[in-house]
Amino acid sequence: MSKILGLRCKTCGKVYPATPIYVCEECFGGLEVIYEYDVNKREIENGPKNIWRYRKLLPVNEKYIVNSQAGFTPLVKAKNLGEMLGLKNLYIKNDSVNHPTFSFKDRVVSVAVSKSLEFGFNTVACASTGNLANSLAAHAAIANLNCYIFVPKDISISKIVQTLIYEPNLVLVDGNYDDVNRLAIEISSQYNWAFVNINIRPYYAEGSKTLAYEVVEQLNWESPDFAFVPVASGSLLTMIWKGLNEFDKLGLIDEVRTRLVACQPMGCNPVVAAYRGNGKIKPVKPKTIEKSLAIGNPADGIYAIKALKECNGLAYDVSDDEIIEGIRLLAKTEGIFTETAGGVVISSLKKAVEEGQIDKGDVVVAYITGNGLKTQEVLHDRLKKWFEIKATLEDFEEKVLGLKRIKK
Ligand SMILES: Cc1ncc(COP(=O)(O)O)c(C=O)c1O
Ligand SMILES: [Zn+2]
Repeated sequence: MSKILGLRCKTCGKVYPATPIYVCEECFGGLEVIYEYDVNKREIENGPKNIWRYRKLLPVNEKYIVNSQAGFTPLVKAKNLGEMLGLKNLYIKNDSVNHPTFSFKDRVVSVAVSKSLEFGFNTVACASTGNLANSLAAHAAIANLNCYIFVPKDISISKIVQTLIYEPNLVLVDGNYDDVNRLAIEISSQYNWAFVNINIRPYYAEGSKTLAYEVVEQLNWESPDFAFVPVASGSLLTMIWKGLNEFDKLGLIDEVRTRLVACQPMGCNPVVAAYRGNGKIKPVKPKTIEKSLAIGNPADGIYAIKALKECNGLAYDVSDDEIIEGIRLLAKTEGIFTETAGGVVISSLKKAVEEGQIDKGDVVVAYITGNGLKTQEVLHDRLKKWFEIKATLEDFEEKVLGLKRIKK
């Protein structure tokens, strides 16, 4: 059984006991969970087909696990899209069908809510760009916890409905995500609640490692050559890197050969811009149709940059039109309907191929982290037109097939 040794500052290395804290008191760096590892391949392979097969690499006492069946989503060999892009080994990690709320956030929230129960909290809360709100509301319902959710007031109506259905206290804030997050930090200092992405953040973040573990397992215990990852706060990318390196340290894979590719919208690209520039994050004011990734001041930005440097990674940003094109391309070729974050990933992949960064035979994984039904409004007026006819064979043939019948 792996043992949690505590929390360690990702900047200065200072170690703390594993309590609900998230920032280093010496240097204000972020904290991460450290373990004394003890796990083997067989134990993992014999586990349940969800994220809890990796429970020995997650920071939760088994007694408190809230098992919402998150994880073990399909890794799809993308034959059609691969052929179109000239890639022989392109895969889609399809978290758009994750359970229970159709985004990768079900992984992190499942871990965070379990840990909140273990700490004895009776109220969970978060600041969210939408997907986290959906997932936390569902998990609070499963775990029977009080729930407060703070979102910017301009998130998509589908995400509001997908949150409210679980009956949390949903608070729409007049401001962007960075304003919402600032308010949530202030509230978290006044109320003894488990803010999953604030005071529970070190534990919450660990859930994202399972997106690395699963891909490796699904590739028959190999790491991919490239992994395209959507970036908002930078936590997901940082944790995929941590997960790959843990598997290496544990001897579960021969080497980590993966180059990570950070993908952001042009209208909110602080990590991509920093990686291309001097490595320093300069906060931006988001202006894009892509609301899930609209974090202008990313909490884990500096750690995402560090991971990108370590893996000799790449970084792309794409326009709003390219995001729509990416969504349509994935649907048309692979039958997968993704939300805007997936459009960012697919268009970034296309750019990397066009730039000649990827060899034909490379094993490439595109992380599709959310479902298209969540952001339908962006597609308004941008889809192929439908036909409208009277209920007659004649009208069908004329208007749809373009045939003209000769009248007898
Ligand atoms: C669909 C989707 N993909 C990716 C991300 C990026 O996550 P992170 O904040 O860990 O960078 C988010 C964040 O909200 C998201 O909603
Ligand atoms: Zn520190």
